[in-house]
Amino acid sequence: KTDTILLGIESSCDDTAASIVKNGVVLSNIIANQKVHKFFGGVVPELAARAHQQNIIPVVDTAIKKAGIQKEDLSAIAFTCGPGLLGSLLVGTSFAKGLSIALNIPIIEVNHLQAHVLVHFIKQNEIDNHKPPQFPFLCLLVSGGNSQIILVKSINEMRVIGQTIDDAAGEAFDKCAKLMGFSYPGGPIIDSLAKEGNPDTFQLSKPSLPGYNYSFSGLKTSFLYLLRNQLKKNPFFVEENKADLSASLQTTIIDILMNKLYKASIDLDIKEVALAGGVSANSGLRKAFEEFAKKHNWKIHIPSIAFTTDNAAMVAISGYFKYLDKAFCQIEIVPFAKKTI
Ligand code: KG4
Repeated sequence: KTDTILLGIESSCDDTAASIVKNGVVLSNIIANQKVHKFFGGVVPELAARAHQQNIIPVVDTAIKKAGIQKEDLSAIAFTCGPGLLGSLLVGTSFAKGLSIALNIPIIEVNHLQAHVLVHFIKQNEIDNHKPPQFPFLCLLVSGGNSQIILVKSINEMRVIGQTIDDAAGEAFDKCAKLMGFSYPGGPIIDSLAKEGNPDTFQLSKPSLPGYNYSFSGLKTSFLYLLRNQLKKNPFFVEENKADLSASLQTTIIDILMNKLYKASIDLDIKEVALAGGVSANSGLRKAFEEFAKKHNWKIHIPSIAFTTDNAAMVAISGYFKYLDKAFCQIEIVPFAKKTI
């Protein structure tokens, strides 16, 4: 085979996704979201695994068709091996194994967090000539399950230098949104309401942790007490103040994230800074990155919205780099719910 064509499979949480990447260029990127969790205010692991089981074959079929290739053209299959929900990971992993045996091609395990970072190395099409980040760079990885500052020394050399000790940033958005009565996921709702609000209206608690670690549970508690106290006086408090509440909350989360990232960039003298993960869709956070770029001379890398949430193009591109190194894995491999970089 002269071309290197990878199938990427992502099934770590509640998105079933498949993507075809040819020589580092994305040919297709298909995602099936699971609507079932909306009624429960969060992802239900058992239901997520079942939905993956239903979605995986149609999603992979569509990715292959949309790419205009045959499954026999595939060089290898890359799949997310962790971290994530174990039942969900098992569906993608087992599927990758089965297809690899059927096609007699290798499988490549991909770390979900590394894949989020490597999103910046995706070529979206043949004419995409954006410059990927230069090594070493810092990546702020913020999602529903993770908030980390990662020092990226090379494609396969990454070190987590700071992370949340409790909730993730996305969780802080979602849990506070839930307290206001919004549906899951609340992050995007807060983002759009915040545009109409005044961020200085409510003072919320910020943690004072040493080093580069994050904490969001204190903020969540202070938000809960604010609502409780005000609702006693005025039952319409949330309805009347939802824009200002959202703006104050969003600005506090962004301040917490950016302060530690800035500290890391100063201490390590790195001005090449990237953003990744579901929360990187947040318009305020994207703006904050642009302001820091201007003010502190940062060279920033912000993913296009399609690549902020869980997707399989990032798994396929990670698999592509491993394929070039012939870093295949054994068929006995088992996924791990908890896995670090
Ligand atoms: O990476 P991701 O798709 O998967 C998980 O790790 O679960 O991230 C989802 C998270 C959710 O917490 C969601 O509320 C948050 O990303 N999110 C946002 C925005 N869009 C998605 N948070 C704030 N503002 C947004 N615009």
